[in-house]
Amino acid sequence: MRPKRIAVFISGRGSNFAAILGEINKGEINGRITVVISDNPAAAGLRYADENGIECAVFQKNRGEPKNDYFARISTFLKERNIDLIVLAGFMKLLTPNIIQEYRNRILNIHPALLPSFPGVHAQKQALDYGVKFSGCTVHFIDEGVDTGPIVLQEAVPVHQGDTEEMLAGRILEKEHKIFPRAVKLFCDNKLVSKGRHVYIKER
Ligand code: GRF
Repeated sequence: MRPKRIAVFISGRGSNFAAILGEINKGEINGRITVVISDNPAAAGLRYADENGIECAVFQKNRGEPKNDYFARISTFLKERNIDLIVLAGFMKLLTPNIIQEYRNRILNIHPALLPSFPGVHAQKQALDYGVKFSGCTVHFIDEGVDTGPIVLQEAVPVHQGDTEEMLAGRILEKEHKIFPRAVKLFCDNKLVSKGRHVYIKER
């Protein structure tokens, strides 16, 4: 099976990107990161990509440019590179329906809560404010909603009394770095089977 060609989208730190790259470099994932795309030229993850010899591209929305056109530009760029999988690793823009439809069940996102609880921004703060005893992280395919797409993998972590947002976020992030590469690996091995809202993992 030929290695999948992956585009990773980031807006900042890029620790999930680094975790996935680490597993690829260990030979654990049958894929390669072809390009890292950022909407933020100052994203730390871009430097890391560059140091690792990965093509980097910054896409900023032009003033007055419709969002659909912005993502159409990105989509053309991805097609030129024959991208099989888009990985959203802390990318802070919501994708538009045109690109979602083109890459249906081929866009993975990581969210720092156990969806469907606490979608959107500040998920860790939402969990603390609500008073849940467990939170965690979710890898899911993107659909047209906000963090509503079919769930691929989840991992739970306890919420401790006295947790700050940073403490909980750190505990969740450790699990993100485990399940995101695992989900990418399953995708690259063609082991994810989507049926409506359900994502099944092929045993062999
Ligand atoms: C992570 O918490 C992820 O769950 C959320 O954005 C953050 C990205 O962190 N979607 P990093 O850039 O991968 O370090």
